[in-house]
Amino acid sequence: MTHHDLALIGFGGVNRALAEIIRDRGDDLAADLGFGLRVVAITDLRLGSLMQSDGIDLGAVLSMTGLDTFAGMPGGDAEPRNEYVIRHTTADVVVEATFTNPVDGEPAISHVRAALESGKSVTTTNKGPVALAGTALNRLAAENGVRFEYEGSVMSGTPVLRLAQQTLRGLRITRVQGILNGTSNFVLGQMESGRSLEDAVAEAQALGYAEADPTADIEGSDVQLKVVILANELLGADITTADVSRVGISGITATDVIAAAAAGEHWKLIGTVDRDEAGAVTASVQPLSLAADHPLAGISGATNAIAFTTDLLGAITMSGPGAGRLETAYALLSDIIAIDAHQASLAGALR
Ligand code: HSE
Repeated sequence: MTHHDLALIGFGGVNRALAEIIRDRGDDLAADLGFGLRVVAITDLRLGSLMQSDGIDLGAVLSMTGLDTFAGMPGGDAEPRNEYVIRHTTADVVVEATFTNPVDGEPAISHVRAALESGKSVTTTNKGPVALAGTALNRLAAENGVRFEYEGSVMSGTPVLRLAQQTLRGLRITRVQGILNGTSNFVLGQMESGRSLEDAVAEAQALGYAEADPTADIEGSDVQLKVVILANELLGADITTADVSRVGISGITATDVIAAAAAGEHWKLIGTVDRDEAGAVTASVQPLSLAADHPLAGISGATNAIAFTTDLLGAITMSGPGAGRLETAYALLSDIIAIDAHQASLAGALR
């Protein structure tokens, strides 16, 4: 049976969850998917670097305590030598899950570039490289005959990008509108129940939905990155964050939220991309008070949803998780499955 060797760059919640899935379900997945998965490299800011081309014992690594590092282990080093590991690992797929930097996308953009240049496919859940350098990185992947996959950059493991790209082909999508940030949706819902914005944000942080800096959730810059990705991926645009007007939810008061609920409406932080007849794309992030019959009005808690307006089918709405460690790790797995399918189709074409 074939297998894929993975290098995990960043060993925080998401890549740890992927390692747990492989540890706990590797045999079942191999039987289901027709290929095995093996982790041959891990880098982490705190643990350092580990390269073992025969496969790392995931049980051992996952049980390391807070004081341990990879130093002293065969192939181990106390330093997180990300670019060295990416370029020299025997992995065929690099799994990039470092933090999202919404300003310049680094160091993730450099990680992705190093992997693609050295002939490895990449899967990432990191919005930075996709929103800020997606076109260039896709070109680099094509030049090197490998794949750059990023299903988890929008709505975590809920397969919104692949759904639209693969199963809505032939339709004209004229509008994409979504609840794309779980934290802000959770916070607005909690405010309807009388809690303060600050208390609700603290709980979203404790639940693991919020970004490292929750300002990105509350002030809309997380959604702004996702809107850029949706516009460029699904509506053929070539926009940047500067092209997306942005208003967050910090100006929404408890009085606003409660008054809307009394009138049967719900405040939501909405990302929208529109394409007109001439192909011009406009994009925004803003709080909107939605009437009860709007397809996104009933989406509660940290759940995300996206509504496509299409010419032949009308409105299509998909909802599902937009955050969470296992949910986001599933996005990585779905990308690896897509990479495998692509490689299999190339091999078939060459036969
Ligand atoms: N902080 C984000 C959210 C996580 O709350 O939806 C996923 O991008």
